[in-house]
Amino acid sequence: MKRVITYGTFDLFHYGHLRMLKRAKALGDYLVVAVSTDEFNAVKGKKCTYPYEHRARIVEAIRFVDEVIPETCWEQKTGDIRKHQIDIFVIGDDWKGQFDFLKPFCEVIYLSRTADISTTQIKDTLKNGKV
Ligand code: CTP
Repeated sequence: MKRVITYGTFDLFHYGHLRMLKRAKALGDYLVVAVSTDEFNAVKGKKCTYPYEHRARIVEAIRFVDEVIPETCWEQKTGDIRKHQIDIFVIGDDWKGQFDFLKPFCEVIYLSRTADISTTQIKDTLKNGKV
């Protein structure tokens, strides 16, 4: 039984998010997704369209996802890996190398991002009235 964890904001849930979660689950048997809280986003200077409660419930409803936990700070990852008995940490390759410090605790895998889609891009498209 392999347990996998991934982290993200998952605002304006899109196809790139879905593909990431599908591939993350395929690496093991149980997928935990840490969704960033609104307070943590504020620390990062990021503002979401959907509040945490909505983003968390949407991610939780995806069939590849077994459990959603809040991500409240940068430092929680080693504690999460221990607490949830994680075997594999996975994230998009926009973060390549940045979580190698977790390698003493579990396997670290960077997956390629889905091309040409992001929450930022969707927001820009809507703002510029292109759809
Ligand atoms: N992701 C992906 N492919 C995309 C967009 C996101 O694989 N096209 C992955 C990210 O690498 C991350 C997870 O989905 O592992 C959550 O990403 P998140 O930052 O919430 O999504 P973005 O659309 O990149 O959001 P933003 O534009 O606000 O950075």
